[in-house]
Amino acid sequence: MKLNIAVLAGDGIGPEIMEQGVAVMSAVAEKYGHEVSYKEALCGAHAIDEVGDPFPEATFQICEKADAVLFASVGDPKFDNNPSAKVRPEQGLLAMRKKLGLFANIRPVTTFDCLVHKSPLKDEIVKGADFICIRELTGGMYFGKKQEPQMNAELGTEDALDTNYYSRPEVERILKVAYQYARQRKKHLTVVDKANVLASSRLWRKVAQEMAPQYPDVTTDFMYVDNAAMRMIQEPTFFDVMVTENTFGDILTDEGSCITGSMGLLPSASTGSSTPVFEPIHGSWPQGKGLNIANPLAQILSVAMLYEYFDLKEEGALIRKAVRSEEHTSELQS
Ligand code: IPM
Ligand code: MN
Repeated sequence: MKLNIAVLAGDGIGPEIMEQGVAVMSAVAEKYGHEVSYKEALCGAHAIDEVGDPFPEATFQICEKADAVLFASVGDPKFDNNPSAKVRPEQGLLAMRKKLGLFANIRPVTTFDCLVHKSPLKDEIVKGADFICIRELTGGMYFGKKQEPQMNAELGTEDALDTNYYSRPEVERILKVAYQYARQRKKHLTVVDKANVLASSRLWRKVAQEMAPQYPDVTTDFMYVDNAAMRMIQEPTFFDVMVTENTFGDILTDEGSCITGSMGLLPSASTGSSTPVFEPIHGSWPQGKGLNIANPLAQILSVAMLYEYFDLKEEGALIRKAVRSEEHTSELQS
């Protein structure tokens, strides 16, 4: 197969983990006779410094024309504590998601037996945990109407606003994706919401209840997000596929990484109307930059997800096998 990959290494540890991801991608391509070409493009703080835009038009063009995007991480401390910065690296990631129509973010939470001891949770709790969080990625508070902090004359003080907006088609399409995943797995879908408080969650629940009968082979249950956050730690093996809105999915998947033992282990795939993107769920960890201590496995597993997306299952399985291999665990454990 011919694959044209856009490579967006970004900031912090991004370039060094990307180097490993690309090395694995190329080694597997060579073994199976695939022709992979790479095009690097700017994004994040890096792109702000160079061209004043965290997701420049030229990068968008490269992504749009590619078969897939391999993304590492963006973010830089110089923007983190400056609430009045006009432009921030994370906006580049959000612009990419929006412009490529990437509404479905697939985040598998899988434990590795050889690394179970790295989890802060007890072995017997995390062993065998294996679920997928399907995070809606282009709606909710991330993209709803906003008002930056500003003076409200009527109140005589500052205020700010984010809107947690969802439309029915946005909810339907992500639930459809979730049901497809559930069908291929253990046929158990948990819809995570806050329907006891939020109107947007009541729309999610309403739509899910309407759709559930179309998937009689799948058991659908509903869980409030606060309860889900607890259950994930108490009994992660309860979950098979969970689906949730953008902000809840962001928070729950960081929590999910603790089950596996490290943020550096969780890959993701984002799909939608245009080019799919494969990226670790973690950030740019600027403190780790250049020290050769960043764990590249999330990036490497993102490559496995990329191959699997193109139905190259053996290629994906080989990468997973290498990641699971006991041979290099002594290094990882140190
Ligand atoms: C993630 C990240 C991003 C998000 C940030 C960097 C904007 O935390 O991919 O989970 O919040 O979506
Ligand atoms: Mn996050």
